[in-house]
Amino acid sequence: MPVNLEDAISKYRHFELTSPYLLYGLGIVVLCYWWKSTALKNPSKLPVIGRRWYEFSYGPAKQRFQDDCLGLVRSCQEKYGDAFYLYTDSTYRLILCRKYVDMIRNEKGLSFIKGLAMKMDIGVPGFEPFASMTSDKKIVHAVTRHSLNRHLGTFIEPLNEESDYALRQVWTDNPEFHEVMLKDCVFKVFSQIMSRTFINDQDYYRNPEWVNASSEYVELSAIAGFELRRYPKWAKPLAARFSPNCRKLRSLFKHINALLMPLKEKLDKQGLEADPKNPLSFLHQKLPGQSEELVSMIIGLCLVSYDGGGELFTHVLHSVWGNDQLVNDLRSEIVTVVGKEGFNRNSLQNLVLMDSVLKEAQRLHPESVLLLQRLALEKVVLADGLIIPKDTPIMVSAAHALDASVWPDGDKFDGYRFFHLRQKADPSLNQASYSFTSTSPDHFSFGHGSQACPGRFFASYMQKILLCHMLMKYDVSVTIPEDGAWFNRGQTHVAHPELKARVRRRKEEIQF
Ligand code: HEM
Repeated sequence: MPVNLEDAISKYRHFELTSPYLLYGLGIVVLCYWWKSTALKNPSKLPVIGRRWYEFSYGPAKQRFQDDCLGLVRSCQEKYGDAFYLYTDSTYRLILCRKYVDMIRNEKGLSFIKGLAMKMDIGVPGFEPFASMTSDKKIVHAVTRHSLNRHLGTFIEPLNEESDYALRQVWTDNPEFHEVMLKDCVFKVFSQIMSRTFINDQDYYRNPEWVNASSEYVELSAIAGFELRRYPKWAKPLAARFSPNCRKLRSLFKHINALLMPLKEKLDKQGLEADPKNPLSFLHQKLPGQSEELVSMIIGLCLVSYDGGGELFTHVLHSVWGNDQLVNDLRSEIVTVVGKEGFNRNSLQNLVLMDSVLKEAQRLHPESVLLLQRLALEKVVLADGLIIPKDTPIMVSAAHALDASVWPDGDKFDGYRFFHLRQKADPSLNQASYSFTSTSPDHFSFGHGSQACPGRFFASYMQKILLCHMLMKYDVSVTIPEDGAWFNRGQTHVAHPELKARVRRRKEEIQF
């Protein structure tokens, strides 16, 4: 039948954009989209804990998660068992428990960086380094695996020298007790040491303006990111315009860009000799002619290397300095081991008590109470038949590592715990499972399996060398704030920024 175009048009002649039909139609489309985007694929019929039937939005579920994530996860584990969906800070996530750690460890269909990218505030100005960290190019990974890990030994002397210099800046040579803010000092020292590792240019690592800006970025981005988590993804760029912390972060990132300008110009003009032992040269080779991206990558490296590292080291300090016997035993170990042969791969490995202290602090103070964050890139079926649909975000509860369910008196810090376990272990068995850098279903604060943290070997060298300097050269007494040494910010376990320390220079028994 021929269609008369004029008739057809004339039917809609009086149709206006404000017509209620159009508005109803739009409303239905939005509702359908919203329903589809929030509908949970749950083929294994797992319990779903989140919005209650009388709640109109996810706000209260989100609030319950942020107020007491650990308590909520523990009570869900008790009630619902080893796998359940929980509404977290921004979406439903599949929460798995210890039993699944080995099942997912090498699962290629579950991606750590995609899981991380989903949580990050990518696309929000000021957060550019998070996009670099989680980019498909995996450049941060390549720097860690091919530059740092393959040449670990060459970093020992610079780590030693910079630990000494950085500590003098924050704790001074003053032989009288004086008060310092513990966490702030740790982040500054980390910034200096890591800048020496990644940029290796005195204009940066010995420049207080750079040290302050980069350490402030690492701390502030965690706070600003947490604030943004209460908004849906599409609203984040707008919300960030009004949030004082996001605005501060944006201008800090601009400042960091300006500080790195001379480095960018130098690299653009002179280039850099290819040297895989030099992370900056390695980075530059990977990003030819992209000096803008270089800035984000450098900050991305700072984020992966000392966000978790600085938090952990602060926990090590407040845990160790509450126990005189432990401090004395650690000092004796340093005198015996490092006194004999200085710092090298062998001596760092033989600091067994120190290794135990680091591992214990990390057990009791993991970066997050939900670890092994992953996103399913495809449908995955686990060994027990549990189906993980494509696009499901996953996390694994670390609650069992923090109480007595695996480790006796697991809710208390025992610096000797892994030292004794190593000594008691059957020598024919692999004792490495009790070392700081090993991972297992009982202790996976560095992750576990094929995507476990590749930087943990470097982190171990760095933290041991720095702790040797602190123990041998300073007397320290830590003052814990009234509300405790740490708190949880949602799932993240945070060392209290108000921790204070009284420090004084002491005469070290050995020189290094
Ligand atoms: C004590 C310090 C550190 C802690 C607590 C830590 C923690 C972690 C954790 C929990 C993961 C996720 C692993 C998983 O879910 O299986 C991870 C991944 C990663 N870490 Fe670390 N890390 C530390 C230091 C470093 C350092 C120094 C670097 C390198 C400079 C680094 C580079 C990375 C990279 C590239 C990944 C991504 C791995 C992947 O996608 O396969 N980390 N880290």
